[in-house]
Amino acid sequence: MNVVMPEVLNKAARGEKLFREDILSLLNLEPEEDALLFKLADQVRHQYLGDEVHLRGIIEFSNYCVNNCLYCGLRKDNQRLHRYRLSSSEICEAGNQAVKMGLKTIVLQSGEDPFYTGEILAKIIDRLKAETGVAVTVSIGDRSKEDYRLMKQAGADRYLLKHETADANLFSRLRPGTTLAGRIKRLYWLKELGFQVGAGNMVGLPGQTCGTLADDILLMRELDVEMAGIGPFIPHHQTPLKDWAGGEVKTTLKVLAVTRLVLPLAHLPATTALASIHPQGRQMALSCGANVVMPNITPVKYKEYYQIYPNKICLTEEATECVSCISNTIRQLGRMVAQNYGHSLKYKERVNNSES
Ligand code: 5AD
Ligand code: SF4
Ligand code: FES
Repeated sequence: MNVVMPEVLNKAARGEKLFREDILSLLNLEPEEDALLFKLADQVRHQYLGDEVHLRGIIEFSNYCVNNCLYCGLRKDNQRLHRYRLSSSEICEAGNQAVKMGLKTIVLQSGEDPFYTGEILAKIIDRLKAETGVAVTVSIGDRSKEDYRLMKQAGADRYLLKHETADANLFSRLRPGTTLAGRIKRLYWLKELGFQVGAGNMVGLPGQTCGTLADDILLMRELDVEMAGIGPFIPHHQTPLKDWAGGEVKTTLKVLAVTRLVLPLAHLPATTALASIHPQGRQMALSCGANVVMPNITPVKYKEYYQIYPNKICLTEEATECVSCISNTIRQLGRMVAQNYGHSLKYKERVNNSES
């Protein structure tokens, strides 16, 4: 069948600014037109970022959380979960192993766990940087500006704070006691402190519409984020949202592809959540605009307890297995594993501008 290029895709291909109605048209293309959207997103990724895929090794260092997000398996009311914390030494040990595997970025992720004070975190980051020389991304949720400052001073390079949904009412319903405004305020703090900043959203949340997804993308453009994590919502049996349908693969890929068109320089991961609901999830995402993969390098004995959502992949594999598995996938797609730090090109631009 011969599919005619819809005008909105021509507009995107010419690099014109896309407005809300354009983004909605892209999210609502006819099913036979989606392949054109995916192809364009892949071309834009190639044109702006080349064929390198960046690996970010993620250490899930604590599954304690003070929050009660309705969608998340780590929520504090989930008393059936065995909780754990890694010591500074265990974290650095995992980091050292990652460097031996050639990884250049470590992501430190946890639930919102006040056990690790700003000072403790600063010490861990400082030690990790001194021992390994990696770039460090922190992903530990809402903190005070002072804590963010301490982490930045200790050498943290990037911070991931997903906005989850751009619908303020939905946000507060799903994340009791917190607001979208508070989240956005923190994203601006992080930018001001000099972090490369990542946001991102879930696709398929109960009560979410196409308009919400368009607003997610527009919010990330407004924030001018360096990174955006976009993954499907996956219902977890030990949460209040256990009976909801999860996000669809196709919709997730469409949001990812449109985000690539709107933020051509952003680092977009092929998320583990997408890989967990489809065996080809990673490959598909890498072909629809993604340029990052995050192998899980948490010590295996803890991995099974970090089930934010069920059926998470790679719970029994050692870090080395995941890194070689992902590297193979990347090569099979005709792409290569980046050997550099993979700092945001956009961020470099900003630093250069302010220096010149
Ligand atoms: N399904 C998919 N992603 C989830 N997250 C939390 N719970 C779920 C779920 N049930 C995501 C959120 C959070 C990240 C750590 O995991 O986007 O930011
Ligand atoms: Fe805690 Fe994050 Fe899960 Fe919310 S999504 S319960 S803040 S780990
Ligand atoms: Fe973990 Fe393939 S990525 S085994």
